[in-house]
Amino acid sequence: IDELLSEGVAGKRVFVRADLNVPLDGTTITDDGRIRAVLPTVKALADAGARVVVASHLGRPKGAPDPAFSLAPAAARLGELLGADVAFATDTVGESAASTVAGLADGQVAVVENLRFNAGETSKDDAERGAFADQLAALADVYVGDGFGAVHRKHASVFDLPARLPHYAGYLIATEVGVLRKLTDDVKRPYVVALGGAKVSDKLAVIDQLLGKADRILIGGGMAYTFLKAKGYEIGSSLVQEDQVPVVQEYLERAEKSGVELVLPVDTLVADEFPDMKAKAPGNPENVAADAIPAGKMGLDIGPETRKLYASKLADAATVFWNGPMGVFEHPDYAEGTKAVAQALLDSPGFTVVGGGDSAAAVRTLGFDEQAFGHISTGGGASLEYLEGKTLPGLAALED
Ligand code: 3PG
Repeated sequence: IDELLSEGVAGKRVFVRADLNVPLDGTTITDDGRIRAVLPTVKALADAGARVVVASHLGRPKGAPDPAFSLAPAAARLGELLGADVAFATDTVGESAASTVAGLADGQVAVVENLRFNAGETSKDDAERGAFADQLAALADVYVGDGFGAVHRKHASVFDLPARLPHYAGYLIATEVGVLRKLTDDVKRPYVVALGGAKVSDKLAVIDQLLGKADRILIGGGMAYTFLKAKGYEIGSSLVQEDQVPVVQEYLERAEKSGVELVLPVDTLVADEFPDMKAKAPGNPENVAADAIPAGKMGLDIGPETRKLYASKLADAATVFWNGPMGVFEHPDYAEGTKAVAQALLDSPGFTVVGGGDSAAAVRTLGFDEQAFGHISTGGGASLEYLEGKTLPGLAALED
């Protein structure tokens, strides 16, 4: 983007593909981190006199307009953060978008409605995606890719549109890639990875890669119970992906052979049922040994011994990557495991990266100072796929 700015953008229509996919409670944004993350790019372009057209997806609407997924709240928040009026087009490539963009003065910013209200955005059919990309291209003279959270998606605005316009990477993408490179090229050791979250299937590919790179991998969250089951332990009614048990068994063996420490919980907080997230009424969690969860009990967070163990495993790390909460942190009874790992990252003298999605939201909603972490990524799936060594369509499109 610095190259673009030095060439001069005054009067040019610049399409910024952002990731404004923020969590919403109705129309209230509960975490605006992703909007704040794209501000440097939008501000720099506006200050240089560009006519800035910001576009993003939000949620997973089904290729047609759906008011529950409108970008209007995100556009309003962007305006507040910029301290400027931000125009909003009620469609993405229709009359409203065309007239909103045509009405922009130099230095003004507009947001167009959710890209995924158009079937062409996510289509698997190259021609359908291409046709939508043509319509998007008509809105702009230049493309800036800055939606790091979506670079792993082969979508029209991420992959096809940059091929149709002069294209540049924004500041956020440059920062994110710079940080993730530190985890892949010449990483400083010990390199410790903490992985949590509900589904082990989402993390298998990254564990596969990390078994050759990390020194220690700490496992928590809902996915830990599939690991405990793979060890042959009783897991009561805890979340489990039965079909993944054999793969996990193989990973446990590989870890042992390769000398990577794959660390599992030694104790776990359990309850009879999943907590009522709305009421947040206290349940009566019980702490039990992780190798003998009683029948009918469901594991919902790592226990106090595991918290201490994981903190000790993180204490001497030179590099840390953390993705996925350790328990159901949204409920106060089950937030301690996630808090303990966040605190251990803060206490660590090493370079600490929080992978996006739930762990980034957890850091903010549990009251931690996000500035104190080395880096909080805006990309959940995107940062994992980067670490898996995959080619990410949105980065490949900018590199060519
Ligand atoms: C994310 O939240 O990880 C990104 O915004 C991508 O969203 P998606 O998983 O719906 O493509």
